[in-house]
Amino acid sequence: METQIIKADKNTDLEKAGEIIKNGGLVAFPTETVYGLGGDAFNPDSSKKIYAAKGRPSDNPLIVHIAEMAALDRLSTDIPDKLYKLAEAFWPGPLTMIIKKLPALPEETTGGLDTVAIRMPDHPVALSLIKAGGGYIAAPSANASGRPSPTLASHVAEDLNGRIDMIIDGGEVGIGIESTIVDLSGEVPMILRPGYVTAEMLERVIGPVETDPTLMKKTEGGRPKAPGMRYRHYAPKGDMQIFTGDADHVTATINEKLSSETKKCGVLCCDENAGLYKKGIIRSLGSRDDMSAVALNIYRALREFDDEGVEQIYAEGFDTQGLGQAVMNRLLKAAGFNIINTEGTK
Ligand code: TXA
Ligand code: MG
Repeated sequence: METQIIKADKNTDLEKAGEIIKNGGLVAFPTETVYGLGGDAFNPDSSKKIYAAKGRPSDNPLIVHIAEMAALDRLSTDIPDKLYKLAEAFWPGPLTMIIKKLPALPEETTGGLDTVAIRMPDHPVALSLIKAGGGYIAAPSANASGRPSPTLASHVAEDLNGRIDMIIDGGEVGIGIESTIVDLSGEVPMILRPGYVTAEMLERVIGPVETDPTLMKKTEGGRPKAPGMRYRHYAPKGDMQIFTGDADHVTATINEKLSSETKKCGVLCCDENAGLYKKGIIRSLGSRDDMSAVALNIYRALREFDDEGVEQIYAEGFDTQGLGQAVMNRLLKAAGFNIINTEGTK
C-alpha cells in the first residue's frame, strides 16, 4: 500500500482524509498530545486494521475521539455527571474518560470490554478530521507497538509507512505524552494513565480521585487496569536505567557507569546537569523548571537514541509532583521499572 503524506494546517480541507476514514481506511493525524492512527470507531474492520498496522494485541482497547458533546449519545446512555464537569473543564484537551458503552459500538474497538474510553482532542486538524470522517475516530498512538509514541509526522512514517492510507503532517505536537486516562465507570474515579491533566487538577473539579497503584512502581502481582499499560510500551532498543537522588549523587553515579561501560551509551538528563557528563551521547530533555518541555522531548530523545544505535541508556529521574508524575511514569515504563536510588550508595 502506498501511504500518502499531506501537510495540513487549521485551514486545510480534510474532505479526502475523511472519505478514507468513512471507507474503512486508516489516517494518521496530529493531536495536541501525540500523533494518532485513526479509523472509523463504528467499523469493526477499521479497528482490526489498526491492530494489524501497529502490530498491537487486539485485547488492548482503542480511544474513541469525538469533536462535539452531542457525539456522546451514540456511545453511552450511562454518562455520569462527573464526565460533564470534567468535559467542561478540560475538553477539548488531553483527558480521556472511560464510561459504560452502548452495544452498538463494536467490541473490536473496545477490546471486548463493556466500557469505552472517550477523548475530544484540542487540535484543529484532529477536530476537522473527526467531523469529516463521520464523528467517531478510534485512534491509538500512531507508533508501531513497542516503539515510543510519535511526536512528529516523520516518526509515524518511520513506523507505519506502507501500512496505512495517509499521514497528515501537522508539525510537532504540543504536549508530547499521551492523554491522562480517568476511569469513571466505577465508584471512585481512578487514573489509569497519568498525563498533562494531573490528579490535583481533576480533584479540583470532581473531588477525590484515586491513582492505579501499579503506575509508579513495580508491585508484586500488580496488573495495571488499562490493558495498554501492562505492556512494555515505550521501549527503546537499548537497555535503560533510571537514577534518582540529589544531582551530585546522580551525576557521579552515571559518570562512573559511563567510564566502565563498553557498550554505546546515551544519557537522558536535564539542562542543569547536561554539561557534567564526561562520555556518551548526551540528550537533555530541558530544564527541571519547565516540565512541559521535558514531557515534550522524552519520546523524540528515545527515538534518537534508537537511531544512533545506543545500547545502554542512563536516565536521570525527575520529581513526581504535578506533570512530573506522567514524565516519570513514561521513563519507568521505558526502563521496565529499572530504577536505582543513588543516595547512600556512596
Ligand atoms: O493522547 C492520547 O490518548 C493518544 C492520542 C492519539 O489521542 N492516544 C493514545 O492511545 O495514547 P493508545 O491506544 O496508545 O492508548 C490508549 C490506552 C491504552 O493503554 C488502553 O489500554 C487504554 O487506553 N484504554 C482504552 N480503552 C479502555 C477501557 N475501556 N478501559 C481501560 N483502558 C482503556
Ligand atoms: Mg500508545
